[in-house]
Amino acid sequence: MRISVIGCGYVGLVTGTGLAEAGHQVICTDNDPERIAALKSGVVPIYEPHLDTMLAENRRAQKLSFTSDAGEAVREGEAIFICVGTPPLETGEADLSAIDNVARLIAAEACESKLIVEKSTVPAQTGQQLKRTLEVYRRNAGVEFRVASNPEFLREGTAVEDFLHPDRVIIGVEDETSEKQLREIYRPILERRFHCPVHLSGCPSTQSPALVVTTINSAELIKHASNSFLAMKISYANMIADMCEKVGANIQEVTHAMGLDPRIGPRFLEAGLGFGGFCLPKDVQAFIQLAERSGVDSGMLKEAERVNRRRIDLFLEKIRQSLWVVKDKQVGVLGLAFKANTDDIRFAPSLEIIRRLLAEGAQVRAYDQEAMDRTSAILPHVRYSREPYEVADGADALLILTEWQEFRQLDWARIYSTMGRPLVIDGRNLLNPGAMLDLGFEYYSFGRPIEALTQHLIPSLDSGASARASA
Ligand code: UGA
Repeated sequence: MRISVIGCGYVGLVTGTGLAEAGHQVICTDNDPERIAALKSGVVPIYEPHLDTMLAENRRAQKLSFTSDAGEAVREGEAIFICVGTPPLETGEADLSAIDNVARLIAAEACESKLIVEKSTVPAQTGQQLKRTLEVYRRNAGVEFRVASNPEFLREGTAVEDFLHPDRVIIGVEDETSEKQLREIYRPILERRFHCPVHLSGCPSTQSPALVVTTINSAELIKHASNSFLAMKISYANMIADMCEKVGANIQEVTHAMGLDPRIGPRFLEAGLGFGGFCLPKDVQAFIQLAERSGVDSGMLKEAERVNRRRIDLFLEKIRQSLWVVKDKQVGVLGLAFKANTDDIRFAPSLEIIRRLLAEGAQVRAYDQEAMDRTSAILPHVRYSREPYEVADGADALLILTEWQEFRQLDWARIYSTMGRPLVIDGRNLLNPGAMLDLGFEYYSFGRPIEALTQHLIPSLDSGASARASA
């Protein structure tokens, strides 16, 4: 099928590339001409594992192209995927102006009937507004627009795998033709006919993903309800972590055992600095706004948000308690991205923590394998190192703010010997507390107080063995 993708951010690029990989003819456009120029010259503007290779292969096979002429993209596609941003307004509501602009553009440029697929995350009932806008601004009277909602569930860092091997595909439709077309678009993915490319780290499942056909309103709601549930799950785990610290229990033992109950499940119970990134925080806010506008009690969601905001305060309290005076201290930061395997720093806890440390007079140095360029553009007063050991050298405290696996593999004995004061505050529960204490570190994390460390969590680092504290 000929498919157009409008918006070349995370969602648009992964969707466009994934659909080309699935065999469709895809043209992508974006209103940022520099982004399109970069993509045309083969430069992928975001870090997302496997995306660059797959994008290059599909461009070479002439299944994927880019244009800065949005009109051309609109005219080309039988189906148009809207993948533009819906950032939060000051009120917390989603800013839908980009969707509105695209709708008016499509209405003006389309010369034949089209399926318009809303993939951006939007509040329920946006599809109805989209339909109305397409009608009102339609330039060619004979052209028919069919609107569908197809929310995405991609996680940054594993977006390509998530797209090709989803656990569910949701299509919100109001007519049979749209349903048929979307089934056709996703057929290679739904039938798993299309195998994991060898360069992917492995197919998570050979089972067919669930195809769920709903109304447009339900599809839109599924997305917000899912992300908000994940946010509540994380905040719940964080509340339990606080409880563990008070009663001398270990959060990892507690969540592990909780997760064995299939009704609860083991994932998204990692305690730490809370949820960041460009999806969960904004989606919870937008869902709260939608609930309030609809006269529905949003208390649960607000509480999840409040618990999440408190994570930063609690982390800073841990720093102050251990470091005492922050002013003039050398603080090393490992990890800036909002989570591992991405260079995305939007709503990353690291930004707020560093800002507050700088405001209190600390000298901050930082290392992140992917996110330093983006961070240095907004936090120029931090000293950035191309090497994690340099960040620790002479530091009074070392903070772990992103769960990059690389940090687990570091030579912690070497770090111990070079730090000014061997103090590590781990905001992601990444390292093994027993091993860190064995090495002589003063070590703090979330929900794992010393008295709660059972023997099996303290691996014996026998004298001659590697002194790495890999967890
Ligand atoms: C999230 C959802 O997981 C995706 O399903 C969804 O498609 C996407 O938003 C979106 O709406 O586009 P993403 O923002 O990439 O994906 O990141 P997550 O993996 O969900 O992590 C979100 C935040 O929660 C991160 O800051 C992460 O560190 C934190 N987190 C996650 C925890 O603190 N604990 C956990 O157990 C899991």
